[in-house]
Amino acid sequence: MPDEFETILTQELNSDGLLNEAKQYILNLSASKRVRPRFLFACGQLLEVPKSKLINLACAVELIHTASLLHDDIVDQTRVRRSSTSVNTKFGDGIALLAGDQLFSKAILILSDTDRAVDNLKAAAQTIYDMSNAAAFEVNQDVRLTNKQLLSIVDGKTGSLFVLCGKLAGLASNNDIAADKFASIGNLLGRIFQINDDIDDIKEDTKNKIQTIPRNFGVKIATNEAERFYDEMINVLSDYKNHKFYSEILSIVQIITRKNT
Ligand code: IPE
Ligand code: MG
Repeated sequence: MPDEFETILTQELNSDGLLNEAKQYILNLSASKRVRPRFLFACGQLLEVPKSKLINLACAVELIHTASLLHDDIVDQTRVRRSSTSVNTKFGDGIALLAGDQLFSKAILILSDTDRAVDNLKAAAQTIYDMSNAAAFEVNQDVRLTNKQLLSIVDGKTGSLFVLCGKLAGLASNNDIAADKFASIGNLLGRIFQINDDIDDIKEDTKNKIQTIPRNFGVKIATNEAERFYDEMINVLSDYKNHKFYSEILSIVQIITRKNT
């Protein structure tokens, strides 16, 4: 990612004291992979969207992602995030909640200043809605969920942000057809990512035993599912063979299927 990305990501987060510290702390942790901004850049560069526009959109997406992690870690009472003490553990639930609110707000402010602001804001609002819906569904599981239900949680909590990346990149070049195509690649990336993450979780035998595809149906079935989505993605990508975009997407797959930090 270009250097300006990190600068814009952490600037104008004006607030005082602990709230400010908490936001800077989570955004500056080097263990974060910035994989969503990378996907958005790959899509936008294919359409020759100017770099400055892509940086703003990528920052908005990374801020939404980071805000969702802060809130998720409160819900799950997670103690370690990005290989460090989580914000809720270090600063308390209250500060973590408010820091998340402000990161969401900053993302909205950035998107309000873009060319297709209304479309972009609408897509972002839908994503945040879908993510919170999936998070609520995930913690409220007193019946055994089907594969279809579990996949809808995967799509909501992880896929929806990658879908947003694809949409924003396509919309930035006024190419609504590309936006849809990138969104479908994003959905598949999210599935590959989350199913692999859920498989890793089983191996680690974490305390948080929420239902997931591998936990309910076994690692073998989950691995097959992830492979099926990978093949589907390769199929969607076939138009771009021999293009930098193709290898960029494959390197993103490498990052997201590596052991999560
Ligand atoms: C964590 O996302 C949540 C999942 C979808 C597994 P990332 O693994 O992309 O988190 P960071 O941004 O690199 O810390
Ligand atoms: Mg969670």
